[in-house]
Amino acid sequence: MSALPTIIVTGKNGQLGSELLALHMSYPGYRFVFLDRNQLDFASLKELKALFETYRPDFFINAAAYTAVDKAETDKKLAMEVNGEAVGKIAKACYENGTRLIHISTDYVFDGQAKSPYQPDHCTSPVNFYGESKLKGEQLAMAGNKATIIIRTAWVYSAYGHNFVKTMLRLMSERPSIGVVSDQFGAPTYARDLAVAIMTIIEQGAQRTGIYHFSNAGKISWYDFACAIRDKTGLSCQINPITTADFPTPAKRPAYSVLDTSSLNRDYGVQPRGWQDALQECLGYLQRI
Ligand SMILES: NC(=O)c1ccc[n+]([C@@H]2O[C@H](COP(=O)([O-])OP(=O)(O)OC[C@H]3O[C@@H](n4cnc5c(N)ncnc54)[C@H](OP(=O)(O)O)[C@@H]3O)[C@@H](O)[C@H]2O)c1
Repeated sequence: MSALPTIIVTGKNGQLGSELLALHMSYPGYRFVFLDRNQLDFASLKELKALFETYRPDFFINAAAYTAVDKAETDKKLAMEVNGEAVGKIAKACYENGTRLIHISTDYVFDGQAKSPYQPDHCTSPVNFYGESKLKGEQLAMAGNKATIIIRTAWVYSAYGHNFVKTMLRLMSERPSIGVVSDQFGAPTYARDLAVAIMTIIEQGAQRTGIYHFSNAGKISWYDFACAIRDKTGLSCQINPITTADFPTPAKRPAYSVLDTSSLNRDYGVQPRGWQDALQECLGYLQRI
């Protein structure tokens, strides 16, 4: 058994999992165990008991999820298994083993009708099945273990994996003009900043539990975000604002999903930086790799 507190991280190859993996050497006071889908498949969780017996984790960061928002509309069974039922089972195992669960959720639990940033206790009402499955995960996590930390985040991007920033960079270098939705508002989250926020919580013992929100600070549309990506990289693509109706998707998106992050500052001193600075850092990193 390790003398160091052990942190299990699921979703090793996802955006958040990759950022935690990239950062973990900066936290030598912990033993990290990163798990991919082959080591813990959320569709069965048959490895869960043995993993708890082997590693006896102090913390369990659940960064794995079924994140294909549009596909979830037709792949409902698997989306609900991974985002809902599996989370409940993990929470129960954490409860039985005295492990603090830090589970990541989403702005898509809200309906997007708010006019000011969503507080963690604002009523939930997802507009798509992905949101429904993530809400079920939150509910089962709390039912399995009241002392869970749920962090809802939004518009996640990173140098790793698939995301809006990387898609925009590709499209802008391939096409003279693109259309980007200008009537959906939120705040982007650099997964690196979320990873640091999670580690800040853990370093303080993760004693205060419940639902928190984390994104970078600000309020923008996808169009604003695309323009910033272009302007910060010196690309010359023309970006045309379009409406949600111009760009139909299988899953409906909330029109507004800015998250109020102040309780994370109050309880853990986590104050997200502005989205522009975070984007600049990620773009700089992408240019170097
Ligand atoms: N991306 C966003 O814009 C966004 C917005 C709000 C909230 N969130 C939440 O933030 C968290 C992290 O998201 P992310 O962007 O880092 O996600 P991501 O890049 O899509 O990574 C998800 C990870 O989950 C793993 N996974 C999927 N199905 C699995 C299964 N059946 N068993 C085990 N692992 C499985 C994937 O494994 P493979 O690599 O093998 O596929 C991948 O490593 C998630 O909870 C997500 O819901 C994301």
